[in-house]
Amino acid sequence: MKAVALTHYLPIDHPDALLDVDLPKPQATGRDLLVKIEAIAVNPVDYKVRSPKDKVETTPRVLGWDAAGVVEAVGPEVTLFKPGDAVFYAGDITRPGSNAEYQLVDERIVGHKPDSLNFADAAALPLTAITAWEALFDRLGISKTGADAGKTVLIIGGAGGVGSIAIQLAKELAGLKIITTASRPESREWVKQLGADATVDHTGDVVAQVRALGHQYVDYALCFNDTDAHFPALAELIAPQGMIATIVENTRPLRLDALKSKSAGFVWEFMFTRAMFQTPDMIEQHKLLNEIATLIDSGKIKTTVGAHYGVINAANLKHAHATLEAGKMIGKIVLAGF
Ligand SMILES: NC(=O)c1ccc[n+]([C@@H]2O[C@H](COP(=O)([O-])OP(=O)(O)OC[C@H]3O[C@@H](n4cnc5c(N)ncnc54)[C@H](OP(=O)(O)O)[C@@H]3O)[C@@H](O)[C@H]2O)c1
Repeated sequence: MKAVALTHYLPIDHPDALLDVDLPKPQATGRDLLVKIEAIAVNPVDYKVRSPKDKVETTPRVLGWDAAGVVEAVGPEVTLFKPGDAVFYAGDITRPGSNAEYQLVDERIVGHKPDSLNFADAAALPLTAITAWEALFDRLGISKTGADAGKTVLIIGGAGGVGSIAIQLAKELAGLKIITTASRPESREWVKQLGADATVDHTGDVVAQVRALGHQYVDYALCFNDTDAHFPALAELIAPQGMIATIVENTRPLRLDALKSKSAGFVWEFMFTRAMFQTPDMIEQHKLLNEIATLIDSGKIKTTVGAHYGVINAANLKHAHATLEAGKMIGKIVLAGF
């Protein structure tokens, strides 16, 4: 099968950073689906995994953790899907990724593709939707049925892939009042169209800007960019007994003592946790992806595609990695077909 893979971990402008390769087609066992990939999306995790280091892979390593495709075959223990089903999923960071014609994925982390979307528009969603859903509803404990409606959330990084779906879920399901960072006219316009109530500029004083909007504190904070830089402002702005969730690794110690007097909480979201640790509730990702598909098909939320970079090959994926690494992407990059 065709695939895009790496053997060496190189800067993206190196000619061998990503390679077009031919690999054996895998076979489904256990609870795995064998999926014929139709479209993929690209995420910062791709360039973070690819980041330069001395390690060398003896067999080419396939990256990519967002896909939409069709089930080609199923393992003997599969109960949720059958061959021919159209699916979308992010997959498992510990296994080969989706930048290949065929991929194995555990059925418990796969959803039925939204009927109303083509494969490329569907591929934009899974990784970011799982992240945003788990952050909002599982980690912050916000009600999906409106019990927290009217409370405030501050989102750092609203125009990115995760922010673009988080804004929609926070508005449509939770009814939150959403303040988000967006530093450019085009990212401000994008987040407002998705449902943000107000924007602040992350290149300026976020605390002062949120307070100028009339909010001394926010009930929830979601950090989707640069936890090191933004944590002090979030600690200042979080309400007494409020909750902060971040999805971005810190590189310096965080001053958690800043939250003590407010009895505020801090929690991580990592969307690969359930698959990585095979948690007993990993089927929750199957369920939430199906709920995302229903929300899409009923018109309550929309896909977050920002750009289509053409067919799936090393040249186009290198272009996508380079764009994402620049940190200015609005919405998601998708690629389709081989
Ligand atoms: N833990 C998990 O499970 C998980 C899952 C998904 C992603 N992530 C991580 O979350 C981060 C965001 O992912 P993503 O896909 O949303 O990224 P992305 O699409 O690349 O985000 C790009 C957006 O970030 C904004 N931005 C750039 N620099 C910023 C800064 N210093 N502060 C605030 N906003 C800034 C930009 O908008 P403006 O500058 O115009 O405002 C741009 O639109 C990445 O680090 C990714 O690895 C973690």
